[in-house]
Amino acid sequence: MKLLLFFFLLHFQNSLSQILLPPNTTGYACNPNQTTPSCQTYAFFTAMGPNQLDLANISDIFSVSRPMIAKPSNLTSVTSPLVPNQPLFIPLTCTCNKANTTTNLSYAKLNYTIKKGDTFYLVSTDLYHNLTTYQSVEIVNPTLVPTNLDIGQEVIFPIFCKCPTQTQLQNQVNYLISYVFQPLDNVSSIASRFGSTTKAIVDANGDNIRPLDTIFVPVSRLPVLTQPTPTSVPLGQRSTERKGKVIGLGIGLGVCGIFLILMGGFWAYRESLWKKRADGKDKYIDRTRSSKRNDQVEVSLMADVSDCLDKYKVYRIEELNEATDSFDERCLIQGSVYKGYMDGKHYAIKKMKWNACEELKILQKVNHGNLVMLEGFCIDSNNANCYLVYEYLENGSLYTRLHESKTERLSWRTRLQIAIDIANGLQYIHEHTRPRVVHKDIKSSNILLDAQMRAKIANFGLAKSGCNAITMHIVGTQGYIAPEYLSDGVVSTKMDVFSFGVVLLELISGREAVDENGKALWVEFYENFNGDVEKHKHKLKGFIDDFLLKESISTDNVMNIMSIAIACLHKDPSKRPSMVDIVYALCKSDDLFTDISQDGFSPRQVIAR
Ligand SMILES: *[C@@H]1O[C@H](CO)[C@@H](O)[C@H](O)[C@H]1NC(C)=O
Ligand SMILES: *[C@@H]1O[C@H](CO)[C@@H](O)[C@H](O)[C@H]1NC(C)=O
Ligand SMILES: *[C@@H]1O[C@H](CO)[C@@H](O)[C@H](O)[C@H]1NC(C)=O
Ligand SMILES: *[C@@H]1O[C@H](CO)[C@@H](O)[C@H](O)[C@H]1NC(C)=O
Ligand SMILES: *[C@@H]1O[C@H](CO)[C@@H](O)[C@H](O)[C@H]1NC(C)=O
Ligand SMILES: *[C@@H]1O[C@H](CO)[C@@H](O)[C@H](O)[C@H]1NC(C)=O
Ligand SMILES: *[C@@H]1O[C@H](CO)[C@@H](O)[C@H](O)[C@H]1NC(C)=O
Ligand SMILES: *[C@@H]1O[C@H](CO)[C@@H](O)[C@H](O)[C@H]1NC(C)=O
Ligand SMILES: *[C@@H]1O[C@H](CO)[C@@H](O)[C@H](O)[C@H]1NC(C)=O
Repeated sequence: MKLLLFFFLLHFQNSLSQILLPPNTTGYACNPNQTTPSCQTYAFFTAMGPNQLDLANISDIFSVSRPMIAKPSNLTSVTSPLVPNQPLFIPLTCTCNKANTTTNLSYAKLNYTIKKGDTFYLVSTDLYHNLTTYQSVEIVNPTLVPTNLDIGQEVIFPIFCKCPTQTQLQNQVNYLISYVFQPLDNVSSIASRFGSTTKAIVDANGDNIRPLDTIFVPVSRLPVLTQPTPTSVPLGQRSTERKGKVIGLGIGLGVCGIFLILMGGFWAYRESLWKKRADGKDKYIDRTRSSKRNDQVEVSLMADVSDCLDKYKVYRIEELNEATDSFDERCLIQGSVYKGYMDGKHYAIKKMKWNACEELKILQKVNHGNLVMLEGFCIDSNNANCYLVYEYLENGSLYTRLHESKTERLSWRTRLQIAIDIANGLQYIHEHTRPRVVHKDIKSSNILLDAQMRAKIANFGLAKSGCNAITMHIVGTQGYIAPEYLSDGVVSTKMDVFSFGVVLLELISGREAVDENGKALWVEFYENFNGDVEKHKHKLKGFIDDFLLKESISTDNVMNIMSIAIACLHKDPSKRPSMVDIVYALCKSDDLFTDISQDGFSPRQVIAR
């Protein structure tokens, strides 16, 4: 891209003379006798400015869903942030419309709601990047007074487009891509970029193309855009590499297969259902909106969750109030999580501010038997609150079980099963989501236990998608935070591995991650064993939970698990094993394996919705 820019700069002088001419302003004529009444086409658009680096913002202004842009643009994820100047193809429904008695104009009608500070000119140039002009907006909205616009007013913005004529169709021109001719462009560079020819472009647009004119690039099929590579390793590659290890566990590859198929199916399915869903949206807004509605908030909220609408149940705030006795203290489970009763079932309901709702975006991408399942959500636009409704797990958190409930202690075998469950859940978010998700807050109080004492990871409130980022804002829980994150803010999957190591220590020792003097368990562990359990075998008894000692468990087995914990707690993140290796090592632990097979346990099946 930089190289290209450099080239453009070299040829800048050639184009200077053209800049002085005013662009074509009122729109592009069409003749309904020559073209189809309406067609599907695309506009080329580049992400610019801080407000457009989120695909949701762009899909918002063009009234399409994010996957509808992601698919033709060759984007691998609808949620990852865009980079400046990232190229996109925006789908448009192009029609030929009567402008006055003598002229018909060709454009895609987009509804836009006027916000504070908007003018026809600014919206056309800044938001739509000159894919329309204010003169054309005035023609299309004859009843509006451009100098007197109300906030909240609906305006049609005519995005310039053209449908191929019968002749063009016969010549294999299936699309005329709308493209705003940039001051540094020339026709031949456009032709090669889009896989068209100089002649075809000149035939379609004339030879007097001026900068900031919208031109129509004739192509037989949409060119494939080369997108900047995401930071994570491509999924396919990783899966094959790990295949041998994962397959024995009966988990993993199936997950990503199902995931990809679902995603693929989703796109195809969504396009056909788009209309239907738009109706659903309106219904949903009606149910939740107050008399004093705020259009902007709702529109952006809906863009954020638009992908969840057909996946999760949308609850009404009244339902949740009834379920939790208006969020009464007595229903409080912990933090801001309430227990609610709806339709004959218990649910855990988490209340948060909308801007903290990152969790919903992460959860819509993950689905695994060892992650707490999201059932639905609710957005209360009156106070911009967001509620997530999860499955309710009967046996509470691992923390409570280990450290607070002195009567019902967990057996060694249950503890190992819990360790494997957590490891499986982490392996899934680390290996099978794109971009990878780092939980960032693995600790015993975020591990929940169901009726069968199987463990599920909860609370993705701090989770981050994308890897190897550096953050300035340190979050997490003392005693579990990896040293490199604390000192340098490095976010990677290896920080979850570290925290998992601490949870293993808790399971083995029955002690809390931080003792009453504020000393971290892992520090104490380090001091005692100095990275080598074998050598300090005699200290083992003092470290193991007294309750387990009564169970006559095999020392070898405990040592095995201890050495996994040691590996997880390595100070150098690159030396820590990956979750895949950990799952493998845990399951290989001999005792466990026989125990499991006797009981007919098997690694958790994936719950596919
Ligand atoms: C726009 O510019 C082209 C090329 O100069 C010209 O043929 C056309 O008439 C202009 N106006 C419209 C409404 O298309
Ligand atoms: C404009 O479109 C109408 C039908 O929508 C057609 O009858 C009329 O001839 C068109 N006028 C021009 C100038 O293309
Ligand atoms: C379109 O076709 C109709 C009848 O076939 C004709 O009356 C009209 O003039 C044509 N319009 C244009 C713009 O060619
Ligand atoms: C675009 O997204 C940012 C946050 O990513 C938000 O602050 C901004 O208001 C959005 N702009 C529009 C026009 O939706
Ligand atoms: C009709 O619209 C076209 C383009 O918007 C404009 O050039 C033309 O002057 C208009 N004609 C009349 C009679 O208003
Ligand atoms: C735009 O608004 C009009 C009238 O309010 C409506 O009929 C049309 O369906 C809307 N279009 C889109 C794409 O939302
Ligand atoms: C659109 O055109 C105006 C001038 O007409 C220019 O100032 C602005 O930068 C252009 N916008 C984009 C995104 O290129
Ligand atoms: C168009 O630009 C490309 C580089 O972007 C350059 O190689 C080519 O010579 C230019 N062509 C003309 C006719 O200016
Ligand atoms: C999509 O983009 C990637 C990354 O730029 C590229 O390697 C690939 O060839 C592109 N095309 C398709 C069809 O995926």
